Amino acid sequence: MMIEDAVIVITGASSGMGEAAARYLAARGAKLVLGARNDGKLRTIVKEIRAAGGDATCRATDVVSVQDNQDLAAHAVDTFGRLDVFVANAGSMPIGPMDALSVDDWNMMVDVNVKGVLWGIAAALPIFRRQKAGHFIAVASTAARKIVPNMAVYAGTKAAVVAICEGLRQETAGELRVTTLLPGYTATNFADHIRDDRLREQITAAGDFAMSPEAIAAAIANAIEQPSEVNIGELVVRPSAQA
Ligand SMILES: NC(=O)c1ccc[n+]([C@@H]2O[C@H](COP(=O)([O-])OP(=O)(O)OC[C@H]3O[C@@H](n4cnc5c(N)ncnc54)[C@H](OP(=O)(O)O)[C@@H]3O)[C@@H](O)[C@H]2O)c1
Repeated sequence: MMIEDAVIVITGASSGMGEAAARYLAARGAKLVLGARNDGKLRTIVKEIRAAGGDATCRATDVVSVQDNQDLAAHAVDTFGRLDVFVANAGSMPIGPMDALSVDDWNMMVDVNVKGVLWGIAAALPIFRRQKAGHFIAVASTAARKIVPNMAVYAGTKAAVVAICEGLRQETAGELRVTTLLPGYTATNFADHIRDDRLREQITAAGDFAMSPEAIAAAIANAIEQPSEVNIGELVVRPSAQA
């Protein structure tokens, strides 16, 4: 599929990988529909994309809401006439040890990382079925594959995303495309949400080798621009130095 003129929704587009993907795809001629909770940040990104000659719009979206996901997908169809790609990228990572019993954080990670992706599927799938075409891309994590201390719940949510998207891929094979992207350590703001000061410093310090979010933007573009008969089902993208 051509990136040029493709109508692409991205959740979690107000920072990090989502923002980088929005700018990268817009620079290649895609029409972007950006969602996140921080409406002011989204509007600034849309303004900058337009000033650079790109096409973009946005809508304040909390991915834990079924309705917000549906409104975001509908906004793409209302604005650009169709929806070609839905990138479920929004994620939450307040990691910590199980002994901390941070049940509110566990709840949030399940809501944002798992249900947020499910509600994205529920919003995009009927439109894709109607069009008889569409590409669902979910951002999981290498944490789904390599389980380490302090990341048990986060890893569990990302493993769920891998399983759900593989099921979706099999059920829609022949009509739609589904890609699960598993990034490794990427230089974004994700560590800001870690509440434990020592753990945050530890994770930040370990990130010397982190790759730039543009690497993930390029991987998303690569999955989209395959010929229609080719589906990249899973894409693991790590910094070369990440063990
Ligand atoms: N950075 C890494 O090393 C790494 C590695 C593997 C996977 N990932 C995954 O990559 C994805 C992007 O994360 P990032 O690293 O780019 O972190 P980030 O810079 O913190 O970005 C997270 C994005 O998710 C959005 N978000 C969070 N909760 C949301 C909600 N309830 N509704 C809508 N949007 C929400 C945030 O926007 P608002 O606050 O404006 O809503 C923000 O745009 C996540 O799924 C993350 O788990 C990251």
